[in-house]
Amino acid sequence: MDIFRVEGPVRLSGSVNISGSKNASLPIMAAAILAEGKSCLVAVPNLSDISVCAELLGELGCKVSRESDGRMCIDATTVDNPVGEYDIVRRMRASICILGPLLARCGRAEVSMPGGCAIGDRPVNLHVKGLKALGAKIHLRNGYIIAEAPRGLKGREIFMGGAFGSTVLGTANILMAATLARGRTVIESAACEPEIADLANCLNVMGAKISGIGSPRLTIEGVKQLRPVQYEVIPDRIEAGTFMVAAAITAGELRIENCRLDDMMAAVDTLRNIGVRVQAAGNGCVVSRTGPIGTADITTQPYPGFPTDLQAQFMALLSLASGNSVVIEKIFPDRSMHVAELNRMAANLRKEGPTVIVAGVKKLIAAPVMASDLRASAALVLAGLAAEGETTINRVYHIDRGYERIEEKLNPVGAKITRESV
Ligand code: EPZ
Repeated sequence: MDIFRVEGPVRLSGSVNISGSKNASLPIMAAAILAEGKSCLVAVPNLSDISVCAELLGELGCKVSRESDGRMCIDATTVDNPVGEYDIVRRMRASICILGPLLARCGRAEVSMPGGCAIGDRPVNLHVKGLKALGAKIHLRNGYIIAEAPRGLKGREIFMGGAFGSTVLGTANILMAATLARGRTVIESAACEPEIADLANCLNVMGAKISGIGSPRLTIEGVKQLRPVQYEVIPDRIEAGTFMVAAAITAGELRIENCRLDDMMAAVDTLRNIGVRVQAAGNGCVVSRTGPIGTADITTQPYPGFPTDLQAQFMALLSLASGNSVVIEKIFPDRSMHVAELNRMAANLRKEGPTVIVAGVKKLIAAPVMASDLRASAALVLAGLAAEGETTINRVYHIDRGYERIEEKLNPVGAKITRESV
């Protein structure tokens, strides 16, 4: 098991390049199931979650390879085992997004329920609702979702909003299934995240007929079949946001290459409001801070609202603000494993249900801390960059799920992060 030793405080300066989006890559890899033949994807990042997804596609009968030029190729000529095993799904809950394409391709799918994780319960009731609306027969057995549609799927108008708003992978599942359904499907209250737009654009390149892309109302005219695709995924806006906070929390200046500011307006708006400069430059931006960190009032919401996947990182930054901030987590109310760990570093955070009151402190103090979920772990790295002393972060595998060797990107711009196997 790896740990990180993070020396602080440091001031970052230089340029970092953003990788392809993990959360666009995962559903787009699943979409390859829909077309017989070999699809090749460009800019799919080298992450453990991507490896698990590749392993899962292999179990279904696909041939998955990473080419010498970095492309991820998925040959879905044969998909003869439509089963997503618990042992794989429990390691990567996003595996649920094979359900829709498997059902559309094979007329049957068995996928393990994802279960809970460090950020809370991961229900799939909306996924099930959507597939039932398309005519699938669904029942649960021994922790598996068994979905059957031997005579294919039929388009319908479906409302996909839930108690917490739209569902990203729920939208992905229904969108992918609807591409091969008979007739028209309308998804109302669809997720508008850029990763869903990227999936829809990729499906259209494969021959699907999707309109309303980027809006909460997607219309899909079913087609007989889709063709394999060569497609480049969008940059990872959450990695980009994480590195923007790294520049801000260290009072440094980072040029962030390959980042789409238009996908990040909520986060950029919050940074600017607390005194961080964010200037568009080339195919990305320059982020810097010289003055004090202002206070903020953040509520996480479905896109285009403030992303839940940047909540922990911004909480680390606001821990050093010149006053009190409020962070309300509306998507995953239990997404707060980082609160106790940041308090171990002398932050002053008080959790009241889904709300955290962040009383700014003058400095953070290094301490041994525990990584928990992917984004909470990234927040601990950011706090370690600013804290006085050496912060040790255990269970670094959480970070490797969503960040390509984060220390290899940050050390060249001034971080002092050492990875050790213990
Ligand atoms: C995606 O997860 C992302 N993962 C998550 O990123 C992200 O935090 C989340 O969307 C919200 O933006 C991937 O794209 C691989 P949801 P997803 O369904 O699709 C409730 C990361 O760090 N809900 O949009 O699983 C659910 O409980 C990960 O990269 C239902 O109630 O999330 C939550 O409260 C973590 N019923 C809310 O909706 C359902 O059937 C949003 O969840 C489905 C979801």
